[in-house]
Amino acid sequence: MSTLGHLDVEAVRADFPALTRKVRNHRPLVYLDSGATSQKPVQVLDAVRSAYEQHNAAAHRGTHLLGEEATDLYEGARGKLASFLNADPGEIVFTKNATEAINLVAYALSGPGRLQVQPGDEILITEMEHHANLVPWQQLCERTGATLRWLDVTPEGRLDLDHLDSMITGRTRIVAVTHQSNVTGTIPPVAEIARAAHEKGSLVLADAAQSVPHQPVDVAALGVDFLAFSAHKMLGPYGIGVLFGRAELLEAMPPFLTGGSMIEVVRMEGSTFLPPPQRFEPGVPPIAEAAGLAAAVDYLNALGMSNVAAHEESLTAHALDALREIDGVRILGPDTTKDRGGAVAFEVDGVHPHDVGQVLDELGIAVRTGHHCAWPLHRALGVQASTRATFYVYNTHDEVDALAAGIRYAQRFFRAG
Ligand SMILES: Cc1ncc(COP(=O)(O)O)c(C=O)c1O
Repeated sequence: MSTLGHLDVEAVRADFPALTRKVRNHRPLVYLDSGATSQKPVQVLDAVRSAYEQHNAAAHRGTHLLGEEATDLYEGARGKLASFLNADPGEIVFTKNATEAINLVAYALSGPGRLQVQPGDEILITEMEHHANLVPWQQLCERTGATLRWLDVTPEGRLDLDHLDSMITGRTRIVAVTHQSNVTGTIPPVAEIARAAHEKGSLVLADAAQSVPHQPVDVAALGVDFLAFSAHKMLGPYGIGVLFGRAELLEAMPPFLTGGSMIEVVRMEGSTFLPPPQRFEPGVPPIAEAAGLAAAVDYLNALGMSNVAAHEESLTAHALDALREIDGVRILGPDTTKDRGGAVAFEVDGVHPHDVGQVLDELGIAVRTGHHCAWPLHRALGVQASTRATFYVYNTHDEVDALAAGIRYAQRFFRAG
């Protein structure tokens, strides 16, 4: 199948050099691991290369033409990200990745200022979180004497919202929740959670590492205070991520990392800091990475985020159908595409996930195996580990069929099922 409903997938695939590779006995690469990191199109690679070749200088520093161009590239990327999310450029902080963006908020909330978390305050997360949106909050609680609470997941892999109102109390300072699970694909009702949190005076952070690459995200419509994601999962380069923060909150936050480029006045006795977003971006910024991320946003905008979401929904529906038909395969998480994105984790009776992954790899099919940095979620679902396929703009229905055939082959190979 070449043209799939909403996207011209063959045209998309032609932009991704990695997808022309032959792997393991000259088999075509079937890349089903975009949840870990996406492949990169030539448009992004060209933007990174051109930034280094033509405009290489330290942004915000040089008083020369190249410095000006580097600054324009970097600030242009900020503007592009702001429009992509329906935010103001001053609300976009570039970080290293989603993990650093979440840590930035968790550290700011334990630093001095009106947002400082106090002993006895509460932080609410969920059992569904990636460790990046879990461990920083545990550490914040250790630093401040706050209590960590969490919403459970249902056996179907949805968030259990029955006790949402009682779990958010007058002492809850922030609710940190995933906007799309990297294991089950579950899309929790973040807007509803944000409304409930705000009613009790709590802040809300959405971990959007798995949502911004795959669906339209409007921070105003979601009503979140903070949102974090990484460029490398959305066709962009490694080493750059984004923290969206509401302007008045960023204004009230102390810096996380300190040094050059984020100061106003420095004396031996002490320093003052620039307003956001510069306050949170110490050191020479990642100009080429920002240019690559801007090119990734252009690429996704040209496809249309609704088309991206629709394409992945059709692949996910196909995968759920195909895997359900295989005896001995259990899908973790919702078994329909309602409020569910394109991450399909599963276990195969009698075959360890690493063995499934290895057999699939021999067939040229790249998937992820293990706990996918969501150990508590796996425990809650009663499994040690799983095999996970994740889909993106360049995947085809033929590749979903190849996955299903590969799983059957693994069962035969290990005489299971
Ligand atoms: C849901 C979720 N949150 C956070 C992260 C962390 O992203 P990064 O490693 O790019 O910081 C990931 C990465 O897999 C993720 O899937």
